[in-house]
Amino acid sequence: MKRLVSGIKPTGELTLGNYIGALKQFVALQNELPDTEFFIFIADLHAITTPQEKLALRKNIRSVAALYLACGLNPDRVHLFVQSEVLEHATLGYIMESTAYVGEMERMTQFKDRRQKQTEGLRTSLFTYPALMAADILLYDADIVPIGDDQKQHLELTRTLAERFNHQYGDTFVVPKGYFPKTGARIKSLTDPTQKMDKSNDNPKSYILLLDDINAAKNKIKSAVTDSDTKIKYDPIEKKGITNLIDIYAALSGLSVTDIEEKYQNCTYQTFKNDLALLVEKTLIPIQEKYQEIIKSSYLDEVLDKGREAASQVARRKIFQVYKKMGLGRIK
Ligand code: TYM
Repeated sequence: MKRLVSGIKPTGELTLGNYIGALKQFVALQNELPDTEFFIFIADLHAITTPQEKLALRKNIRSVAALYLACGLNPDRVHLFVQSEVLEHATLGYIMESTAYVGEMERMTQFKDRRQKQTEGLRTSLFTYPALMAADILLYDADIVPIGDDQKQHLELTRTLAERFNHQYGDTFVVPKGYFPKTGARIKSLTDPTQKMDKSNDNPKSYILLLDDINAAKNKIKSAVTDSDTKIKYDPIEKKGITNLIDIYAALSGLSVTDIEEKYQNCTYQTFKNDLALLVEKTLIPIQEKYQEIIKSSYLDEVLDKGREAASQVARRKIFQVYKKMGLGRIK
């Protein structure tokens, strides 16, 4: 049976970018790939690569878990768990640090960007983070990893590390493939469409949170930056603002870019934005209603307990195999 692995960091609330780039894909794939076993987790160890307040982190872990379910993940199809509760992630993370080279980590653009913005107090784990991400994937012998574009480089490194390890110690890890959404692999900021939509942005108008007040979310779409031209045309070079909104529209409606261009060929930006705002409302309302039910229920803990047990079993077996191949411990 094939396996699929993915995760989301619980650093603050999830954005529409996370939904389109990741969550929505997981939900669709659960039906499209009936013969694949799903391991989906809340990447809390990745969250502590930057400072987190204890109570906020605890709350965010639950919130991400509840959002996974509210967006439609089916716990009968998916092992849903909290990363730090499966201890083997950190162990294999260290082994991946011992497989990767410093030069490889230094080439990771996410880290380079961060370093440009912040010179003091950067944590070592932020630098070695891609090794932990590789471990998250390789621990479960994942064949397929659905992610947004911003994680592409980390997945490439994961493949390199798997191949290097296999070459050195003999076949151990499956070399995984990334799976990227057809539209919406990189949803941009609503205030600056040259940047990705990111919850760590200082301006809340730049992103839509899945738990945003509905009217606030609609207003963010209505005030999104567009260019001075008035034509609703997909052009990622010249018309980044409207292109981003078309991407969001396409992902949420299931319509193709051409269908959307045709539908709005004689319309103003305002009409288009109003319709998109309604589409966002239609997407968020059921998610928020379901979230409110789940977050208060003991069901959430039952799902996460069950997920942890299933993931731990697979992870323990894999670490045992890795130790043996490497000569670690006393396993013969
Ligand atoms: P994170 O938490 O930053 O984002 C979670 C997922 O959401 C996608 N995403 C986006 N997609 C489209 N447009 C956007 N603006 C946007 N913002 C975020 C991300 O690509 C990602 O798929 N390192 C990962 C978490 C992780 C992981 C893993 C993922 C840890 N271990 C193993 C897959 C497999 C991260 O920080 O994602």
